[in-house]
Amino acid sequence: MNDNTDRIDLVEVVIDLKGVWKIFGARDREAMAAIKKRGLTKTEVLEEFDCVVGVADASFQVRRGEIFCIMGLSGSGKSTLVRHVNRLLKPTAGKVVVSSTDIMALDDDELLKVRNQHIAMVFQNFGLLPHRSVRDNVAMPMEIRGLSQNARWKAAEEALALVELSDWKDKFAHELSGGMQQRVGLARAIAADTEVLLMDEPFSALDPLIRRQLQDEFMRLASQMDKTTLFITHDLEEAVRIGDRIAIMKDGIIVQTGTPEEIIMSPADDYVMDFVSGISRINLIRAHSLVRPRAEFEVKHGPLMGDEMTVSSDETLRQVIVKAAACASSGPILVQDKVSGAKTGVITKNDILSGVILGTEEPWPAVYPPKIRPGCLRTDQTWPPSWPSMRITMRPSSRQPATSGDSY
Ligand SMILES: Nc1ncnc2c1ncn2[C@@H]1O[C@H](COP(=O)(O)OP(=O)(O)OP(=O)(O)O)[C@@H](O)[C@H]1O
Ligand SMILES: [Mg+2]
Repeated sequence: MNDNTDRIDLVEVVIDLKGVWKIFGARDREAMAAIKKRGLTKTEVLEEFDCVVGVADASFQVRRGEIFCIMGLSGSGKSTLVRHVNRLLKPTAGKVVVSSTDIMALDDDELLKVRNQHIAMVFQNFGLLPHRSVRDNVAMPMEIRGLSQNARWKAAEEALALVELSDWKDKFAHELSGGMQQRVGLARAIAADTEVLLMDEPFSALDPLIRRQLQDEFMRLASQMDKTTLFITHDLEEAVRIGDRIAIMKDGIIVQTGTPEEIIMSPADDYVMDFVSGISRINLIRAHSLVRPRAEFEVKHGPLMGDEMTVSSDETLRQVIVKAAACASSGPILVQDKVSGAKTGVITKNDILSGVILGTEEPWPAVYPPKIRPGCLRTDQTWPPSWPSMRITMRPSSRQPATSGDSY
């Protein structure tokens, strides 16, 4: 067999998942066939086949250099999904391609090479060897690659400095607190210096302050080193802060994929809306999302004078507010299209106020019909659904236990 791994680095889409299903249990194939034929619910699959649906028909693509976040409640299938990318799990159905390499087609040696040289992972439960020193844990991927002790210790120490653990390098991993072990896991992934990073809730055990620092540091590193990152979180605020795009999961299904702004402005259903409602939008929403056509405005209110304050269509709501506050006039604001330069849009002060509060107070109207497609996992939730008012800043200790399907 040819060495498939050499093709990594050639294409723009780096991670490509198509129709991935993961059903846990001895009768997974039978369950899969029954779902395709009869459209069972997760609960029915559990009752009839004693199988758990972890991921249901998930598809997404991550582009080179992108930070792609997967977000959802506990038990929604985030870890299960990400573990397919480096074949820690094999899909019941579907395809996993990383830089045009079919991950399922790799033999054992090729898979080891991919895991060691191309895809690093930060595990949700840290994944450290307790009786190795912190430095040796971080240096492990380089040890497997056969680097000299000097070279791997140098790289390990640089990565430990980034996560502010230089003083702890000679301690055993088990002597560190949970948050510190999480930073060691992060340092190991950074030191491995792979083009793909899989990060399963890498900051969940950290204090808010260090969490924010590491988010900033990580975003800086990822863009500087052109990393392609799949980043798992249960915190939409974190996803919005660091993600170029976000996929939202519920009970194994990806219910929405989009940029932070798209998700905030057009949540696909009540589940997404419930997350979105607590998010501050002034740094996310841009003028183009609030704009109304100038011609329409002029028909209703008469022609504009032409000397109105102007903002660019890509300015954030915060920037628009700052400018509007500094402007003496309370009239409409002209919006100049960033690409064409045309001033064909208008924002009023009311539009600005609506942008600030949109979706933050009232529950989203339950106008979305349940999505039922043939050959898919069917949900047996009642409609309209009544989601628990669980918000975005759940700490691990307050998270729900993994569901077995009863919450449908
Ligand atoms: N090895 C396994 N065997 C059986 N069921 C599993 C296994 N791993 C995961 N599951 C089930 O798959 C579903 C998704 O679990 P997963 O760990 O992917 O959720 P998660 O979104 O990562 O949750 P959390 O935020 O708590 O980490 C759950 O219903 C879980 O019980
Ligand atoms: Mg998980």
